[in-house]
Amino acid sequence: MITLDDIRKPVTGRIEAFDRFVDSRFCADGKLMDSMLRYALSSRGKGIRPLLVILSASLNARNEAGADSPRVNLAAMLVEMIHVASLIHDDVIDEADTRRGAPSVNAIWQSHKAVLLGDYILARNVGIGLESGQFDLVTHICGAMAALCEGEVLQDECAAKHTMTRKDYFDIIRRKTASLISVSVSAGALAVNAASDAVERMHRFGEAVGMAFQIQDDILDYSSVKTGKPRNNDLREGKITLPLLCVLERVDEKRRRELVERLEKCATEDESVEYLRCIVANEGGLQKAAQIMHDYLDEAVSLLDAYPPSEYKQALVNLCAFIGERDR
Ligand code: FPP
Ligand code: MG
Repeated sequence: MITLDDIRKPVTGRIEAFDRFVDSRFCADGKLMDSMLRYALSSRGKGIRPLLVILSASLNARNEAGADSPRVNLAAMLVEMIHVASLIHDDVIDEADTRRGAPSVNAIWQSHKAVLLGDYILARNVGIGLESGQFDLVTHICGAMAALCEGEVLQDECAAKHTMTRKDYFDIIRRKTASLISVSVSAGALAVNAASDAVERMHRFGEAVGMAFQIQDDILDYSSVKTGKPRNNDLREGKITLPLLCVLERVDEKRRRELVERLEKCATEDESVEYLRCIVANEGGLQKAAQIMHDYLDEAVSLLDAYPPSEYKQALVNLCAFIGERDR
C-alpha cells in the first residue's frame, strides 16, 4: 500500500521549506487569538493541498530552481489556509466536537470564537497574498472561497429537504471539495509560470482528484474503520451522499419513501442509522460509489499522459492510488 510519506519523498525539502514559510508568515496579535491560531495550525492534517501545489509546481517548472520559487510556497499557503478556515467553520456548522480525533476549535473556545478565528485566518491569508504583490495567484484562489460556501449552502438545502439528485450531489462535491483541490493543482502550475494549457490541464486533473477524494470521504463515513471522525455522521446529519444515492436510485417510489423516512429519524435514532448503514452496504451502494470514484481517478491519471516520466509525475499517479485506497 502506498503511503503519503512515499508520495512526499521527491519533495520533502520543499514541504519543509513550505512549513517554515507558514510559520514565519502566520502569527496573531493578542494572546488568545495566537493560542487559537497555534492550535488550528498544529493539527493541519494530511497536507494534501500544499502537497498538490508543490508536486504540480515541480512537474511544470522549466527547471529545479523554478520549483523553489517563493511563489510556490505562497500558492500552497493560500490554498491550505482556506482549507484550515473552512474546516473550522464546518465544525461550527456541523456542531462537531472533534476534528481528526482531537477537540474541535469550537469545542474548546465555543462557536463564536471559532467563527472569528476562521475569518481571521481568511483575512490574514488574503492580506499576506496581496502584500506579496502576486496578484495573479490571489485572484486564482479567490473563486474557490465562494465555491466552498455555495457547496455548503446547497448541501444544507438538500439535507433539509431530504432530497438529492445525482446532479445536486456532484454539484455539491465539485464546489465544496473539488474546487479547492483543482485550484491547488493549477496554482502550482501558475506559480512556476507554466503555459495556460498546462494550467488548464492541471485544473482538470485536480477536479477529477477532488471529486474522487470527496466520494472516498463519503464512502469512509459508512465504514467501521477508525477514521478519526465520528462514524455515520452524514446519516445523522440527514445527508444523502453517493453510497445511499446509488441505492435510492435503484428502488421503487414506495421503498424510496420508506428509506427517506428512516433517514429523517437518523438524527435521534441509532437504530435507523444502523438500518440504513446495512442497506447501503448490502445493496451495493458502497461498491457502486467506489466504481464512480475509480472512474474519476482513471480520468485524472490519463490527464498526466501529456508529461514525460519523472519522479513528480509518478508521485501524482501514486497520490491517485492513495486516494482510492485510503482508509482515513
Ligand atoms: C468538510 O466536508 C467541509 C468542506 C469541504 C467545506 C466547508 C466549507 C464551508 C464551511 C464554507 C466556509 C468557507 C470558507 C472559505 C471559510 P464534510 O463536512 O463533508 O467533511 P468532514 O466530515 O471532514 O466534516
Ligand atoms: Mg463536516
